[in-house]
Amino acid sequence: MAGAFPHGFRWGAATAAYQIEGAAREGGRGESIWDRFSHTPGKVVHGDTGDIACDAYHRWPADIGIMRELGLQAYRFSTGWSRVVPTGRGGANREGLDSYDKLVDGLLAAGIEPWVTLYHWDMPQALEDAGGWPNRETADWFAEYTDAVTRRLGDRVQHWITINEPWCVAFLGYLMGVHAPGRTNLKNSVAASHTTLLAHGKAMEVIRGNVKDARAGITLNLSHIYPLGDLEQDERAAQLADGFTNRWFLDPVFGRGYPQDMVDLFGEAAPDVQPGDLDIITRPTDFLGINTYQPSYVRHDPNGMLGQVGTVHVDGEYTAMDWIVKPEGFFDLLKRVHDDYAPAHIVVTENGSAWNDPAPVAGRVADPRRVAYLHGHLLAARDAIEAGVPLDGYFAWSLLDNFEWAEGYTKRFGITYVDFATQERTIKDSGRFFAETIRANGENL
Ligand code: FCB
Repeated sequence: MAGAFPHGFRWGAATAAYQIEGAAREGGRGESIWDRFSHTPGKVVHGDTGDIACDAYHRWPADIGIMRELGLQAYRFSTGWSRVVPTGRGGANREGLDSYDKLVDGLLAAGIEPWVTLYHWDMPQALEDAGGWPNRETADWFAEYTDAVTRRLGDRVQHWITINEPWCVAFLGYLMGVHAPGRTNLKNSVAASHTTLLAHGKAMEVIRGNVKDARAGITLNLSHIYPLGDLEQDERAAQLADGFTNRWFLDPVFGRGYPQDMVDLFGEAAPDVQPGDLDIITRPTDFLGINTYQPSYVRHDPNGMLGQVGTVHVDGEYTAMDWIVKPEGFFDLLKRVHDDYAPAHIVVTENGSAWNDPAPVAGRVADPRRVAYLHGHLLAARDAIEAGVPLDGYFAWSLLDNFEWAEGYTKRFGITYVDFATQERTIKDSGRFFAETIRANGENL
């Protein structure tokens, strides 16, 4: 398909609090699980932390300047839970809320629509000490925090995302231990996944109560799964990988309860679903947020994940994260979610790629492979719209190079280059390409 994107399609870029804010001990902010984790030797490459990150806590006015230069229509950022409720329970920290209040006003003054994510992985450490996500009470504490944020910003912010990527929260954080809080227990991780979904449902109700005309939803990280090999076992492996990555979250959010094959597989570790839980989890949302970076190719492997799933490194181009570049996987994923779950609206809340970018030369950063990635994925997005997918918006990950979790500062995802020694920002070629695409509403692609 050639031509423009639909009228009203939203073009934005995304960030997350811990990855960009810095100012870890300012403004009454409390310790979060990512402070604790990143300061634990051996957890993050080079021992990097988010103490300073992009210093966006102080530099947000200049960053809004960059957004204007890019012509962004929307900016997705997250509020830090430990900035707003430093110890996770009890009263909100006014200074923390003030900082987001100013950011929202600055965005609105620049004509940029704020999209707020309430949880992008930085739980107050005090709540982890009280059991963290495996403890179902955390869902209630999250609802209280949501109440504080939406009361304060809800008169100006219409778009809300409850939880970012519950799969990563639960399984990277509590099963594989590669993200905060770094625990490694299957039962805890499955319990954590259930609590994040409960927290999402409870937050939806709070948002509806506090924000007139709210548009709210959850963001899932999804990945299209292709079976390799033609044995029945390979199909089964693909089905399980899909169950673990995609259906475990999509099914309950869309009113189907947890998928039985996964419940059987988890066995003893299956979540303790109490009466009423599924009704909370399936409360109506206005859109489904999808974060996606690559598809995956799997075959049967008794030594693999869940005792059955082997991920295959097929031939192709790989990013600095070792993630394959496959725009058709993006198309297939969007189409599949539409066909199988039919959300009224879909928004791609993150998509992007990391490359070993050169440092700026005369104010320019040449990142042709990021340009190509973006181009390919935007064409696939447009094809998906043409195929009937109700895709309403696309947020590039990320506005800025930033603290890439366990990879620290070694992986750059930004469409804007950040020199972490000087905090100087330089819009990359990909940023310029994105700006042109926004101006042309995709007609240039
Ligand atoms: C996603 C995260 C985001 C960023 C990208 C690369 O899983 O939501 O914060 O790290 O991956």
